[in-house]
Amino acid sequence: ITIAVNPDKITAKIQPEMWGVFFEDINMGADGGIYAELIKNRSFEFYKPLMGWTIQGSKIQEGDLQVLNKGEKDANNPRYLRVISRGTNKADLNITNEGFKGIGVKKGLSYDFSVFYRESSPAVKLHAELIDSTGKVLGSAVLIPEKSDGQWKKQSVTFTANQTVNKAKFNLWFEGAGQIDLDQISLFPGDTWKNRKGGLRGDMVQILADMKPGFIRFPGGCIVEGHDLSTRYQWKKTIGPVENRKLIVNRWNSEFAHRPAPDYYQTFGLGFYEYFQLSEDIGAEPLPILNCGMSCQFNTAELVPLDELDPYIQDALDLIEFANGDVNTPWGKVRAEMGHPAPFHLKMLGIGNENWGPQYLERLDLFTKAVKSKYPEIKLINSSGTDPDGARFDLLNTSLRKMKADIIDEHYYRSPQWFLANAKRYDNYDRNGSKVFAGEYAAQSDGIAKPTNKNNWECAIAEAAFMTGLERNAAVVHMASYAPLFAHADGWQWTPDMIWVDNLAIYGTPNYYVQKLYSLNKGTDVIDILSDQKVIAGEDGIYASAVLDQKTNEVVIKVINASSSAKSRNIVINGSKKTASGGKLIQLQNENLSAVNTFANAVNVSPKEKEITIKNNQTLLELRPYSFSVLRVPLK
Ligand code: AHR
Repeated sequence: ITIAVNPDKITAKIQPEMWGVFFEDINMGADGGIYAELIKNRSFEFYKPLMGWTIQGSKIQEGDLQVLNKGEKDANNPRYLRVISRGTNKADLNITNEGFKGIGVKKGLSYDFSVFYRESSPAVKLHAELIDSTGKVLGSAVLIPEKSDGQWKKQSVTFTANQTVNKAKFNLWFEGAGQIDLDQISLFPGDTWKNRKGGLRGDMVQILADMKPGFIRFPGGCIVEGHDLSTRYQWKKTIGPVENRKLIVNRWNSEFAHRPAPDYYQTFGLGFYEYFQLSEDIGAEPLPILNCGMSCQFNTAELVPLDELDPYIQDALDLIEFANGDVNTPWGKVRAEMGHPAPFHLKMLGIGNENWGPQYLERLDLFTKAVKSKYPEIKLINSSGTDPDGARFDLLNTSLRKMKADIIDEHYYRSPQWFLANAKRYDNYDRNGSKVFAGEYAAQSDGIAKPTNKNNWECAIAEAAFMTGLERNAAVVHMASYAPLFAHADGWQWTPDMIWVDNLAIYGTPNYYVQKLYSLNKGTDVIDILSDQKVIAGEDGIYASAVLDQKTNEVVIKVINASSSAKSRNIVINGSKKTASGGKLIQLQNENLSAVNTFANAVNVSPKEKEITIKNNQTLLELRPYSFSVLRVPLK
């Protein structure tokens, strides 16, 4: 059987941002995840002020540790800890932080301890240390306060760990007699991304950078909406000095976790400035999503009355100025003061996430008019919900198209069979109307959030097959991203997830490698790929798409064999160009559909590369059972 590819027959441009990532603080994605802070409840603002901390000591008297509350005087950061020390050694008084599911400690790595303190006489030295479960010290430093003028001061000290431990704790003990106030007790590893102080976990950013994603959609997801409007995401509260960013309970705290009290917060150490910076660092277009004046409809939405929507709309206008305005604009100045005078070049903005009904359309209309009249160049992403085959989805999609939406965000969490059956989903979408953003999708081996819902090869190969349809239809599908992105092995609310971490390690799932292969082999133009003059989208279990990469002058062919038997196809490159005599074949394959990657076997399902021969513009492609092949053929 022949597969005919023709680089002369270009059918669409591929958007440079086509394959991206969707980041949300779910599954400890931000706090306890990519935001590298190791201390949980560092400023005592959790619902229970000493959550995450334990207090011990033989010399503690009633009232020696007090959580004081400044109330409205400092509404963003009201609480601090007052310590009255009477001791001379560790056993007298110490406070221990459990970290986020423990603290990952690496031998030889430096750790930056910092704290805001206040004392009126030079009385108390702080001993900061990492300890293992037996209390053994893994590294320590003494912080001797430099000031004792009764004013708050931040001071830091660095020390090195002498051992690797996955679930360590942080301990602070006090030497000297006297009173000291403490706030923002913080510990960061020395291997943050780009070595930024107070920055992001290096390995988690690196695995994203390795994908070369075209965009980063942030900050969610449902957290944009909030359970109610008071817990919606408000970007203005996530910028400026970290200690002034008021935390809120994470919308994912209670949904599946059934915890006795909330302990999953958004501290916003990763805020909008950092999201823009991250996007810039890894060459991805920033794609922020804003609340549209509605909270999460799965919890019965709270709505902002239409005549009170102005502050929400102003947030959108101000965000564009924050990202793109010059340093003389009010919000451009704020960005510059945070360290980035150059603009972030924001091009797209999402209004609402999974909102629906006339209430959404009315609010969206107001946002659209305001944004387009001031910033006509900004593309707006509209949301069409999670039920791709449902009447609500159709209705919304039709309305949004009538409103001439720039881009409509479609979400689908469905079975692998659905993905295989939907490879032609976009073949008949109107090329001249609104474009599509497949903003959240993932094949489900079982029910969402069940431990048995695995990132297995069956799901990943079904996504790969479906994605041939996204690529083939790049004329209408402008962007796509898998969801959710990250999960912590000890603290997740949702399965499956693209990348798994624990306190020290990280691995990409088979789904990650599928996404990465598409992104790294994106090309610039869609070209014809046919078998027997027909689109290849499931017949005999084979799915295919092809692109031309004008930057490297290569044809890139993707073929999925979703069947259990080996197949071969004669690939013929037609058209005016001669091919080189050698190309590259990258294959992701496993004969076991249940195969997964794990911390112990992180590359069980991962791409293998080899050279192939091409003769007279032809090559025989062996398609192993359950395989995803990417063939790169240089043109002369
Ligand atoms: O990706 C997890 C959640 O799924 C997102 O927060 C939401 O948009 C969708 O329902």
